[in-house]
Formats: sequence, C-alpha cells, structure tokens
Amino acid sequence: MSVLHPDILTHDEEGALPVRLVGRGVPLSGSEAVWARAHDFTGKAGQLLSLPGGGGVLGGAVFGIGDRFDPASTRGLAARLPAGLWRLEGVSDDQATRAAQAFALGAYRFDRYKARPATGPRLSVPLSVDIEVLSRIASACALAREMIDTPAADMGPLQIETIAREIAEAHGASLMVTTGEALLEENYPAVHAVGRAATEARAPRVIEINWNLDRTDLPLVALVGKGVVFDTGGLDLKTAAGMRNMKKDMGGAAHALALGRLVMQAGLAVRLVVLVAAVENAVSADAFRPGDILNSRKGLTIEIGNTDAEGRLVLADVLTRASEHAPDLTLDFATLTGAARIALGPELPPLYTDDEALAADLLAAASAVGDPVWRMPLWPGYVAALDTEIADVKNDSSAWAQAGSVTAALFLQKFAPTTGAWAHMDIFAWNPRARPGWPEGGEAQAMRACFEMLRGRYAG
Ligand code: BES
Ligand code: MN
Ligand code: ZN
Repeated sequence: MSVLHPDILTHDEEGALPVRLVGRGVPLSGSEAVWARAHDFTGKAGQLLSLPGGGGVLGGAVFGIGDRFDPASTRGLAARLPAGLWRLEGVSDDQATRAAQAFALGAYRFDRYKARPATGPRLSVPLSVDIEVLSRIASACALAREMIDTPAADMGPLQIETIAREIAEAHGASLMVTTGEALLEENYPAVHAVGRAATEARAPRVIEINWNLDRTDLPLVALVGKGVVFDTGGLDLKTAAGMRNMKKDMGGAAHALALGRLVMQAGLAVRLVVLVAAVENAVSADAFRPGDILNSRKGLTIEIGNTDAEGRLVLADVLTRASEHAPDLTLDFATLTGAARIALGPELPPLYTDDEALAADLLAAASAVGDPVWRMPLWPGYVAALDTEIADVKNDSSAWAQAGSVTAALFLQKFAPTTGAWAHMDIFAWNPRARPGWPEGGEAQAMRACFEMLRGRYAG
C-alpha cells in the first residue's frame, strides 16, 4: 500500500514560498492589506489567500488561524495550498512541529482509483522539527485511512493478512494466521461462525503478530482490532443506508496494525502482540442465524439475538487469545456500535476502561496531540442486559438498557484480559462531512493518542 508522499515534509528550503499564519484582525499592511480587503480575507480560521509576486508569479500566501493558533487548522493548509514547496512564517519552533504534524495529516488523499492523482503542496520545516518522527505518525494514519477507504472488494481478509505480513517482516516480528476450517481446530469458534458465510477466497482468519516476545523482562502490550471487511448485518440484514459505508468496519484492525507498526518503528521497550480478526459478515445459506448459540474460545456460550452484532463476537475470541499472553496492557479498537455515534457523534470516540491510571494517561495524551477520546462508563448495572435464560450471554442487549455502546463494551469486558489494564475504543473511523484537511472518508481516531500514551510510558 502506498502510504504518504515520502517528502511531504522536508528541510530543503530552496524556492519555498512563504505562507504566513495570521489571526483575525489581520496585521497586514500596505498593498497586502489592500489585496486582502479586495478578497474579503479577514483572518478567519481556514481562509487562504494567495499573494501576488512580481511579474504575475505566486509570491506567497496568508492563512487565517482565527482567534488563536490551533495546529488542527494546519490540516486545512495542506488541503488548500497550491502545489509546490512552502514554508511557514510567524510560528515558534514548538508551533512549527505541531503545524508540520497537522500538515502531514491534512495532506492525505485517497487517490488509488483516480487516473490522474492531484499533486499537493509540500512543507519546508526548520531543522528543529523531527521529520522522521512526524512522518511515521502521519504514515500510520494514512495507512489506516487508506485501508478503510479501500472498497471491501479490494480489502478483504487476505489483503489485511498481506498488510500484516509486510509490517511483521519489516520489523523482524513473527506472523501467525489461522484461516477457515483451521479456526475450529485452533478454537476460534466465534470468528469462524461470523466469517464462514463468505466465499472461500475471503475466508475468515485470525492474524497475530508477535514482536520481542523473548524479552520477558519487558511489559507486554496487546493491540486488538475488529476487522470486519464488510458488514452486511448478516441475516439480520442492514438497510441500504446502514450498509453504505460498511467497508469501514475493518477500521479497528487497520488501527491496531498501524499502531503496532508505530510501536515497532519507535522501538518502544515492550513485547508486542497485535491481534486482528478479519472476517466478512456476509449472507449465505451457511450464515450463522438469529437464535443460534455459539461457543467462544473462552468457553462462554453466546446466544445470537442479532447477527448484526458481529463485532463483539469476533473480538470475544481474539481478546481471549490476547489474555493467553498475560498482557500488562491491552488496547482494542473497533467500529463496534452505531450507538457510539448517537452518544458522542462521529468525532469523539468513546473510551472504556476501569483502570484509572490508564484513563488519566490516555486522556492527557489525547489532549496533548489533539486526538480526542471521551471516557464512558463500564456501568455494572447494565451487565444484566446481556443475560439470557438459555446461554451464558447474548450478543444483543435487552432494550431496557439502551446505551448500546456501553453494553457492547460490557460484553467485551467479559472476555478481556484481566492480568493488566484494558481499554476499548468504539471508533467511528470516518469523516462524514468534508472539511479542508479532513476529507470525507476514513479517519484515524484515538490512534495518535494511544501512541503518545505508549511513548510516554515505554520510550526506550
Ligand atoms: N459495524 C456496526 C456498528 C456501526 C454501524 C459502526 C454504523 C459505525 C457506524 C456493528 O457491527 C453493528 O451493526 N452494531 C449494531 C449492534 C446491534 C445490532 C445490537 C448496531 O450498532 O446497530
Ligand atoms: Mn454489524
Ligand atoms: Zn460491524
């Protein structure tokens, strides 16, 4: 997979045109002020105005930042500036680093299906900016976004496996893949049940990357992701509108893999396990059914109330697998519920954890890097909404509880490792509205926050 234009950020300055960040009130003078007035440029956040140079060439630009410097607005700069090399004027070193990170994130375009991909701007940054570090993070986000944006026909279980293999090989990690009928022999019954309706070339699989596992002196981190390559809802079929964007239902897997790559690239002092369940929730004569009772790797039986609550089923088995490594920390990412969007909207992913220290570290990291999460409760009173008379647990919580993102998290909690801390993020992984730098489509959410938290705890 292509990831990110490799030199979107550069220390090279030759020929770079200046772009000045200006606040509201516009401290411009002379002919620039006249030009700005003629174009209704007020310094409002996100406004871009090209400035003429001599002889009809482009001389530079001014970019509005509104009332204060917010690095997120620099994402819009990458989307609005004309192609060419630019340098920021009027920013401190610290602002330059944060602006450069946002610029690299804002430069993402999903163009693999375009005959003529557009070329965008590049940014010349001062030597104080660590391009390598920023590019890795932007590339991780680009990888997750590109995997999400890629249609399900071209991002099936095998393609996810291939990406996992490339990541593992690049860092001397080992890869284990359990596919199709072998899922039954190796005791992943829920993954098999959800994925078995897919055509053979798109057979369900559990993908596991192990890195550094012989370093038993180091803490073990497990990253777990929901990789439903397309969610039709199964026999409880979704509506057309509900199905339209379900190519993104492997977003959790994309996040776990991209974050795993970041951890290995940074050489964090941890043992790492990345676990992904890659399945298609398809419809066929062999599909699992409402009313079926599945076994799980943990041995808990699960009554199927709704085949559209499939994510928690596959996660149950891979969370159990994660617990077999006795992790000190487990993070899972999943586009798990529509209810998460109803609770918090598409831009603020619910975070669930009972570990106070982990919650504090994650929330601090999230605000430090501008990648928000919002803590939600693992409210024990609602566990009863998962009770059923005829199995150990059911996959569709009782209607009295509502709070669908909470009850889904409580379901996962029954399977999550208990040797260390566990956090679950119910991500939307998608921008439903286009803003400059935030094109409609796949989005990495909570991943930079998690990396910042991990870096803070485990930087070598
Ligand atoms: N992948 C969906 C959740 C989803 C839907 C995430 C839309 C983001 C946007 C998940 O598998 C699902 O269908 N969940 C159901 C659960 C319900 C049947 C208990 C839901 O949220 O409606
Ligand atoms: Mn579903
Ligand atoms: Zn789903």
